[in-house]
Amino acid sequence: MSEGYGKIKKYIYGTPLKTGAVVLDIPASDGTPAPFTYDAAGDTFTYNLKDRDMVFGLGETVRGINKRGWRYTSNNSDDPHHEETKESLYASQNFLIIDDGAECFGVFVDNPGTVTFDIGYTSAGVLTIKAQYNDTDFYVLNGDTPLELVTTFRKLVGKSYIPPLWAFGYGQSRWGYKTAGDIRAVAKGYKEAGIPVDMIYMDIDYMQDFKDFTVNPERFPDFENFVQEMKEQGIRLIPIIDAGVKIEDGYEIYEEGVKNGFFCKKEDGTNLVAAVWPGKVHFPDFLNFKAAEWFGRKYKALTDAGIEGFWNDMNEPAIFYTEDHLKEVFDGIDEYKGKEIDIWEYFKFNDLVSSLSNNPEDYKRFYHDFNGVKVRHDKVHNLYGFYMTKSAGEAFKEIAPDKDILLFSRASYTGMHRYGGVWTGDNFAWWSHLLLNIKMMPSLNMTGFLYSGADIGGFNANTTEDLMMRWVEFGLFTPLFRNHSALGTRDQELYRFERKKDFKNLIELRHALAPYIIRNFCYAAENDTMYIKPLWFEYRGDERTREVEDQLLVGDSIMIAPVYEQNATGRYVYLPEKMKMLRFRSYDDYDEEILEAGDHYVKAALNEVLVFLRSGKELTLAKPGSRVGEADVKIDKTIFFKE
Ligand code: NOJ
Repeated sequence: MSEGYGKIKKYIYGTPLKTGAVVLDIPASDGTPAPFTYDAAGDTFTYNLKDRDMVFGLGETVRGINKRGWRYTSNNSDDPHHEETKESLYASQNFLIIDDGAECFGVFVDNPGTVTFDIGYTSAGVLTIKAQYNDTDFYVLNGDTPLELVTTFRKLVGKSYIPPLWAFGYGQSRWGYKTAGDIRAVAKGYKEAGIPVDMIYMDIDYMQDFKDFTVNPERFPDFENFVQEMKEQGIRLIPIIDAGVKIEDGYEIYEEGVKNGFFCKKEDGTNLVAAVWPGKVHFPDFLNFKAAEWFGRKYKALTDAGIEGFWNDMNEPAIFYTEDHLKEVFDGIDEYKGKEIDIWEYFKFNDLVSSLSNNPEDYKRFYHDFNGVKVRHDKVHNLYGFYMTKSAGEAFKEIAPDKDILLFSRASYTGMHRYGGVWTGDNFAWWSHLLLNIKMMPSLNMTGFLYSGADIGGFNANTTEDLMMRWVEFGLFTPLFRNHSALGTRDQELYRFERKKDFKNLIELRHALAPYIIRNFCYAAENDTMYIKPLWFEYRGDERTREVEDQLLVGDSIMIAPVYEQNATGRYVYLPEKMKMLRFRSYDDYDEEILEAGDHYVKAALNEVLVFLRSGKELTLAKPGSRVGEADVKIDKTIFFKE
């Protein structure tokens, strides 16, 4: 019997599918999943929250670290508007910890369809969990502390993905690099400014007509040599792969997929026709292991050209429209022709047209062959991105056995953390989204998505130099450290700004911190724990830390307190113990000050990063200049705080 069994109880409702989320085979328990009550009539799990209960988890969601006071719905959604009133983002990580400071427990809801967590939204003192289709493996986890519960959960769901160590460097991305020349210009811009860049990401424009595993030969002639040329400059190219496969005669992936029946089918057995970037597409049935194996092997076209990393996108899957619904919309529009449209009709008309994209009804139009079982997509919707990423992760062992490949995805479900990381999708260049990024990181860490990060500087809308600088200062500590922005927004490569020297210092500081980050990241992955934690998880006896959500513990030695407000030249910081404050301007230019436990106002000019070294701990820094993750990186200095 596994040591985890005593701490984990599993209750089965309906006929759950094996989602692949868990790696332990826990025998089912009878009865109610205490401390929840189960209402069979409403198919609802209920727990009465105690006044002091805090609720942690759910991974990539809006709002705070303590999830109380809102309703969250696991339903992977391609929605770039991450406002606090949203219930669903791109990911479903159905793990929660409820902790009142004395007693705690965890719950994991293994159900890949829509699941709603009402955490004191309808009624302040009540947590309810309700799945749309209650075919659920419902796990209750016992433990003495939130951190112990995290470890128990992670033993249940398996070890987190560790990327190649160079992936802890700094990456530049932008939707809009169209040619090899554009990418060379970015590399040159960084070089001239003396700012190190380790990866340049290739968005959809590198492809021929947005076809997966193709490279446009006019815009990227002699691609293999180009990959090599960049690598010689220390830059790895990281192409995007999209879920939809263009429908086009003569396109190998399309033809093979059709021939072998590897695409998702409608009730009548024909392949679903949807539209994404390439125009009309079919969706590979990643839940069918043969189709997944087939698609995964296709990455070889790029790994053979020297590519060592990928980001999987649009895999909720995002649907601009389906052929069937487009027809329904056109038919609907026809009915309005020549009619007087009053304001109520106008609203209906508007709803009709905007129902084209990501329509819930479209997710009921197609089916998977899930290990021989025909399943309607909406019942397993949240698995799609996971299985796309799994197909790649598993194929890499075969097609690139001697390489570690970087892999992360937009959509995810628990279990995917074993195959890749996540980025948090299309945020905005808003100060509030920098704060959202800060608050999301510990939740992602709890659920095993250690290799994660947001689009630094903001994806949508125009960023500003100060927002970018503050965001880089926080991003220095996130494992995935990538500046990415949308087509049509202001250029935001770091060398475009006036304060190039400050950006250079910051990226060099990341390089200096890399051995610390890598050591602590790997420790967290190997020991099923967290690399970034809320203060509460380590200082649970200290009541004040209950509400600290804008300071985080990073690794075993430091606390960070990012500045996330425009024009702020400092901030309040709460210290749960005496610490050594390090105010970094660069790797070798910093102030040190010992601060007592308690509240402090500390200055932090725009180019200054606040790091707090915990008592009895040390922070190691490498000399910038060496490549991130290379074996011969030397520790240049160690800063101690020993009393
Ligand atoms: C949506 C992704 O979230 C974004 O990062 C990417 O730039 C666009 N798709 C275009 O590929």
